[in-house]
Amino acid sequence: MNYPIWDVPLTGGGLLIAAIAVVHVFISHFAIGGGLFLVLTERMGLRARDAAVLEYARHHTNFLTLVILVFGAVTGVGVWWTIALVNPTAVSALVHLFAWVWAIAWVFFLVEIVAALVYRYGWGRMDARTHQAVGWVYFGSAWLSLLMINGILTFMLTSGKWPETQSLTDAWMNPGMLPSLAMRSAVCVALAGVYALITSSQLADLALKERMVRYSAKWVIVGAGVIPFAGLWFAGTLPEQARFLASGGTPMVTAFTVASVLLSGLLITGTVFGPMLFPRQTHVTFACVLAALALGATGATEWVREAVRKPYVIYEYMYSNSLRPADLADVSSLGLLASSRWHVPAKSDWNDPVKIGRSVFRVQCSSCHTVSGLNSIRFATRGWDKALLDQQIQYLNTLKGAMPPFIGTDEERGGLVAYLISLQAEGPGASAALPARSEGERLCRR
Ligand code: HEC
Repeated sequence: MNYPIWDVPLTGGGLLIAAIAVVHVFISHFAIGGGLFLVLTERMGLRARDAAVLEYARHHTNFLTLVILVFGAVTGVGVWWTIALVNPTAVSALVHLFAWVWAIAWVFFLVEIVAALVYRYGWGRMDARTHQAVGWVYFGSAWLSLLMINGILTFMLTSGKWPETQSLTDAWMNPGMLPSLAMRSAVCVALAGVYALITSSQLADLALKERMVRYSAKWVIVGAGVIPFAGLWFAGTLPEQARFLASGGTPMVTAFTVASVLLSGLLITGTVFGPMLFPRQTHVTFACVLAALALGATGATEWVREAVRKPYVIYEYMYSNSLRPADLADVSSLGLLASSRWHVPAKSDWNDPVKIGRSVFRVQCSSCHTVSGLNSIRFATRGWDKALLDQQIQYLNTLKGAMPPFIGTDEERGGLVAYLISLQAEGPGASAALPARSEGERLCRR
């Protein structure tokens, strides 16, 4: 309401965030698990005085630093850009509440990156003890940054006592925080193994390859074995509505929940019957297939986590469309458009219900619906007449639990109905299928 709206055609902004965030999750969890993998592998090599294992760990360090410092950093910044553009109101609320948590996390990020570089260039240049210590600093700070951020992520889904107490401790130490931390830590371990399979499967020395591939496979199995238990613990803390959505309430969400379990199962089975039993024959292509399964499982799980949060972006505090339940009464009496700083049609258009309705749609519905792309409103309302539309809009939150109630004056609701009817008249594939950039542009096209 207080910020401009960014129209992302066809997919909507949510999917764009998801696409970038899933890649970031896949890399950042590896950054943490990979650190633990490196220090423990280095220790194993040192204890056994095995130069080949140490050489492998050194080689794997190059791979890790390349992946996390380039792709991790780029996708991390990408996540910030997209979330701030897609939902500035929610980001602003989170930044105000968690300013210090983020500040602390960023200090850990900095330490992590510096330690990763020192560790990378310290191979062969530092004595073993100091090098190991740097490795622990790297892993420790990486995990601590997860600890900080994890509390913010789970807060959005399980805001716990915060809505009443408004205390930062209650917000950060919310009910989902610990189980999610356990789950993400297990994901870190599993992903460390997945990435290590990519490097170990390429080793030329067959005896070494056998040892390292099997060793990496164990990381996948141990990590992936813990995930379902931590996942169940996490699911137990979810709000009732979220559990309902995941377990049958919405076909799409249920499908993704099943996909997440199925892909994880395939990953474990593939790891046992591939690298674990046939380490020498494991080809890097197979390791990449396992990585793709892991990426798929990560994607499906993160998608579910986002989807079950509907209708909220911050549970019980702010809806996905940036309106807050607390503002409901004020906005209803004043009017949605009169309360908005943007998207208000020009004064001369105030008696055109379609234009009013289009603005109402952009402010209130476009965070979850596109006009004719993903979760298309034209498709959802096809064949509905004026009376039916008007009636359904008054009961949006009853119609689908994933939707917030409609907020606005009778005139605005009438406008929304007129706009949705006008979409049907235009029909699919019409040139006005995508919302025009400005009213002027829209008029010109006609
Ligand atoms: C928080 C996200 C969200 C917001 C905001 C939202 N919707 Fe929805 N809407 C959904 C979801 C999710 C569905 C269900 C899609 C499914 O089940 O496939 C849905 C379904 C619908 C349907 C179809 C219902 C049916 O019975 O098939 C209509 C109509 C609809 N929305 C209208 C609106 C209108 C109008 C607005 C704005 C005033 C709006 N929605 C705002 C998430 C949202």
